[in-house]
Amino acid sequence: MKNKKKIIISNRLPIQIERKKDKLIIKPSAGGLATGLNSAFDSTEICWVGWPGIVPKDDSEKEKIIALLKPMNLLPVFLSKEEIHNFYEGYSNEVLWPICHYQPSYIHFDREYWSTYVAVNKKFCDAALSAPHSPDFIWVQDYQLMLLPQLLRQENQELNIGYFHHIPFPSEELFMNIPQRKELIEGLLGADLIGFHTFADSQNFLNACKKVLHVPCGHNQLKYSDRHIFVESFPMGIDYDKFVRTSSLPEVNAIATQFRSHFPNQKIIISVDRLDYSKGILERLRAFLTFLEKYPEWHSKVVLYMLIVPSRDKVSQYKKLKDEINRKVSEINSIYGNLSWTPVLYFYKSLPFEELIGLYIASDICMITSTRDGMNLVSKEYIACKTNSDGVLILSEFAGASKELVDALIVNPYNRVETADSIYHAIRMPPEEIRERTEANRQIIQKFNVHHWVRLFLDRMAETKAIQRDEW
Ligand code: UDP
Ligand code: G6P
Repeated sequence: MKNKKKIIISNRLPIQIERKKDKLIIKPSAGGLATGLNSAFDSTEICWVGWPGIVPKDDSEKEKIIALLKPMNLLPVFLSKEEIHNFYEGYSNEVLWPICHYQPSYIHFDREYWSTYVAVNKKFCDAALSAPHSPDFIWVQDYQLMLLPQLLRQENQELNIGYFHHIPFPSEELFMNIPQRKELIEGLLGADLIGFHTFADSQNFLNACKKVLHVPCGHNQLKYSDRHIFVESFPMGIDYDKFVRTSSLPEVNAIATQFRSHFPNQKIIISVDRLDYSKGILERLRAFLTFLEKYPEWHSKVVLYMLIVPSRDKVSQYKKLKDEINRKVSEINSIYGNLSWTPVLYFYKSLPFEELIGLYIASDICMITSTRDGMNLVSKEYIACKTNSDGVLILSEFAGASKELVDALIVNPYNRVETADSIYHAIRMPPEEIRERTEANRQIIQKFNVHHWVRLFLDRMAETKAIQRDEW
């Protein structure tokens, strides 16, 4: 008999495989789902099913990848180039992502997108059921796999299935635009418990259920196909202790000191995001430009250091965004820069973990200007690393994190002047106020960490199953 394990399924595994000169290299995946969830479990407790980020060149390479991942309890689902194009870049990131991030004008439909989305969700279902462990709980992650809960349920009515949506769920008016809205909602309702980062997202989903399926819904539940399904918010946290521990390492502080030494007598503002239009990178640059126009006394005394992690670079909106960022950065630097000062420094790469923490420690301000964001873990990581409570967080009201980190400077990134003024406010904030705000935010991040998040979800799952059993 197979022994029991929890099975996590996400489109992307927490690591990705790259081929360098015929050698296979393992790299950590970027993005909150991978970084957050990976800290939450010991790899011996779970089996994680997902895409390893590479198309194997032949069967022998495929076998090598399977063998490489097996000791880490990772089970790869391989996607062909066409599947990557139609399922991942296509339906997931040219239809669902823009709708969920309130950018319907960015949607691009192609005939093959939907049929491939269905087929790939089936592929993940088969992979999960072929895992070498029988599942005591299957936890499906995110918008790429919205059909999977129902596919799994059809295979086995008895399964314990949870689903977590890591990105915003749009208001029902927007969601109704999707031609396959009914299939998507029914797909999710195969789960017993459906989680979102915020209360508003969970309510948007329930409203969509009412509208699409004409079923009555309570504030956190509905009955569908004779099953009680619970829909609630579980704001995701970070591995607080890991960030605090790493921030105290001498080698990490040496990185921070060295980085700071490049900017003597200057305030350092940082931002860290994947290349994505939902992150408000252009809005941030426009606000910084307004700040420089409005407050000339700060010229030469402040730098904006942007780390942009490459993402989805084959999707046309992302390519366009990269060009627009290049143009805007060079415009700002041409207007205000001089031989001894470059106002905006911009890097299109990812950093090793220790360097990222060094960057958090060394900076005075972190600016998050998402126009929509499920949670935004970077904001939490930044505060966790500020063990001396000496950093100001400017945080968009449209990031899920703003519902918890209420002591940040909360801004509407579409309001360019307000955001520029928040930079001015942050730069001049008295140390005592910085400390008070950071400490208040730290308490929340420490308490509602990623382990708390997992516990809460699993406990609620057990309660859900008990309620369902009592009904029989
Ligand atoms: N991150 C990373 N490599 C980097 C910079 C950032 O892996 O070079 C991580 C960062 O630490 C964070 C995640 O990427 O955990 C981004 O998560 P967030 O929730 O902020 O946004 P998402 O990318 O999920 O939309
Ligand atoms: C967000 C999504 C994840 C996704 C990540 C990185 O965090 O919620 O599902 O994995 O971005 O995006 P990518 O397209 O590279 O997987």
